[in-house]
Amino acid sequence: MADHTDALGRISATTSLEEIYPVLASLHATPGWHKKRPSLWREPRTEFTPRHWSYEVCRAAIDQAGQWISTELAERRNTLLFNPVGDNDYDTVRTLVAAYQMIKPGEYARAHRHSPNAMRLVLDAGPGCYTVVDGVELPMQSGDFLLTPGWCWHSHYNEEGAGANAYWIDFLDVPLVHLLEPMFFEEHPQGYQPVDSRAAEHDWYFPAARTGPQLAAQPEHGGLRRLVLDTQAHIPTVEISYLGLAPGRNVEFPADTASRILAVTQGQGVARVGDLDIAWKRGDVIAVPSWTGFSLSADGQGQMLEVSDKPVLEKLGLFRAQRR
Ligand SMILES: [Fe+2]
Repeated sequence: MADHTDALGRISATTSLEEIYPVLASLHATPGWHKKRPSLWREPRTEFTPRHWSYEVCRAAIDQAGQWISTELAERRNTLLFNPVGDNDYDTVRTLVAAYQMIKPGEYARAHRHSPNAMRLVLDAGPGCYTVVDGVELPMQSGDFLLTPGWCWHSHYNEEGAGANAYWIDFLDVPLVHLLEPMFFEEHPQGYQPVDSRAAEHDWYFPAARTGPQLAAQPEHGGLRRLVLDTQAHIPTVEISYLGLAPGRNVEFPADTASRILAVTQGQGVARVGDLDIAWKRGDVIAVPSWTGFSLSADGQGQMLEVSDKPVLEKLGLFRAQRR
C-alpha cells in the first residue's frame, strides 16, 4: 500500500511527459506511444532463417562422437539441428526441432516420457532395431516413420546381433511446448520399459513398404504428389506429409504462416528456400521458417517428408497462405 501512495505522489509531482516515463518504468509499465519496439507489423517477419543440414556430414560427426559417448551417458545420442537466432541452440524452426540420432548394436536408449510429441523417420537401420511406445514394440527399418504421442513412455534399442548402427531423424514439438510452457518430463522408474506386445501394424507406425505405394497412388499436380498421414488423432500439433517430386519438375510452394521441416527420404536435387539455394540428397534436413516461399526440384524421382505446425495455426485461426 505504501508503494502505491508513493507512486501516486511521484506521478502528481511530475511536470512533463519526460518525467512520467521513469515513474511508469519503475512500476513496470510503459505507455504504448513510447514503447521501444513495434508490436504489430504488416506481415510475418520471422527471425528464423532457411537452413540445410547434410546427413553425410552430421552422420560422420555422430559416428566420431560415438567413440566417446554411450547411450548410458547420453540417454539419447543425438545431434540437434538449431537455427542460429539470438542465443537459440535448440529450435530448428519456431515450433519444431529436428535431430539426427544414432544407436549401436546392443545399445538401449532408456525409457522416458514427456508432454511434447515426438516422431521418428528411420534413415538407415537393419532388422533388430525397435522403438517401444507404451509397451508396444514397433520395428524401425529404413524409411519407416513412427509416432510417439505426448506422455507415452518410449525407448529405443538395437539388438546385439543387429550388425550395424541405426540412424534416424527425431522431430519434436518441444519449441512449441517451450512457448506455451506446459512441459512435463519423467524417466521410467525401472529405466527399461517392458514389451507387452509386438506390432507390425499400428496407428503409430507408418512403414515405408506401405507409405511408398500410397504416395505413388496419389494424383499428381504440377509435378507434386502429396500423401498426408493420418496422425491428427494422436499428434494434433503437426501435419505430416510425404511429398513425391516428379523428375526434372520445379515445384513452387508459396509462403504460408506454417513453419516446417523437410527431410529427404529419396533422391537428390535442388531447392530454393527464401534466398537460400540448396543441393539436397537423401537424409538431408531443410528448415523452412514461417512465411517463406520455397521450391523443390528433383533430378530423378524425389521424395521428402514434411513436418509442419499447420494444424496449430489452423486451430487458432492463424493459418494464411500467400496467393500465387
Ligand atoms: Fe523422448
